[in-house]
Amino acid sequence: MNKNPNKNIDNSDIKIGLQAIAFKEFLDNRHTVIISDENLFRLYPEVFEDFDKIILPSGEDTKSLKTIEFIISEFVKLNLDRNSFIIGFGGGVICDITGFVASIFMRGLSFGFVPSTLLAQIDAAIGGKNGVNFGNHKNYIGCFNNPEFVICDPILLNTLSDQEYKSGLGEVLKYALITNKNELFTYLNKNTELILNKNQKILNFIIKKCVQIKSDIVAKDPFDKGFRQILNFGHSFAHCVEKIENIPHGIAVVYGMKIALKIAFNEGFLNSECQNEILSFFAKFGFDKEIILRDEHFEILKGDKKKNSDSIKLVIIRDIGKPDFYELPIDDIKDLLK
Ligand code: GLY
Repeated sequence: MNKNPNKNIDNSDIKIGLQAIAFKEFLDNRHTVIISDENLFRLYPEVFEDFDKIILPSGEDTKSLKTIEFIISEFVKLNLDRNSFIIGFGGGVICDITGFVASIFMRGLSFGFVPSTLLAQIDAAIGGKNGVNFGNHKNYIGCFNNPEFVICDPILLNTLSDQEYKSGLGEVLKYALITNKNELFTYLNKNTELILNKNQKILNFIIKKCVQIKSDIVAKDPFDKGFRQILNFGHSFAHCVEKIENIPHGIAVVYGMKIALKIAFNEGFLNSECQNEILSFFAKFGFDKEIILRDEHFEILKGDKKKNSDSIKLVIIRDIGKPDFYELPIDDIKDLLK
């Protein structure tokens, strides 16, 4: 299933600033099927011209085994063989589904991604994690397998809703905090207005930079055994916040990072000057609110962790560019956040 697990995405694999349709140059006459969703099919019909396609409903509910069965039955009808090629054109849900179904059908077909959201371009499409949910259990079924290519086209971001764009920015801010200041933090601070206005040149730079940051981290720990988990900064709390407040993932990640910063400060790992600098940075991008965790959040947090222990391996930062891990019991978190 895992044809080339150690293949890392380097700059030659990542095409930035091309039209999404540029994937045609990589197909080499292979029988190609595009998996996408209803929104993209409506917005960009020209991408699908001359291709077999499987169009799925939009949204997280689609990320299920039922969808995988449906896609496989479509693959059979389309007479795909081991030389066929699958393209996932969509957000994180479509990339996760496509990578997984391509990896298991006939023991693995080649695939590529054309991610259509900022979040998918800088996170979901990069790093080889593919899969679906199992009931309420997020990403319980899946595999590690990398696409042949990822085409990130910032033009696609023009049709994103403000919320979806902000969600992607949340993950961009995360990368800025887990790497040295001069990698991204200073650049984002200097170009805030242009970023909020989706300036294409600036977005090209940011997407490329984030892809490089994530690829470098993944290269050190492709199967997520330890170091890669610094990418989870803000994520320990994001799941429960996302669920209870019903907000997009990347926005919840920023609330999660704020909670982690507070814990780091209260435990003496982070000084107040740095904490304030980061909070002003978030505010510049419109993340000025905070979420106070309630009992209902803690219940989900405990549910998430049941299979392991009652502790959380929290990602904290000691300074910008200095991520670290801090293991603590969930029951202590309430006290630390007072
Ligand atoms: N989204 C976190 C990771 O790929 O490890």
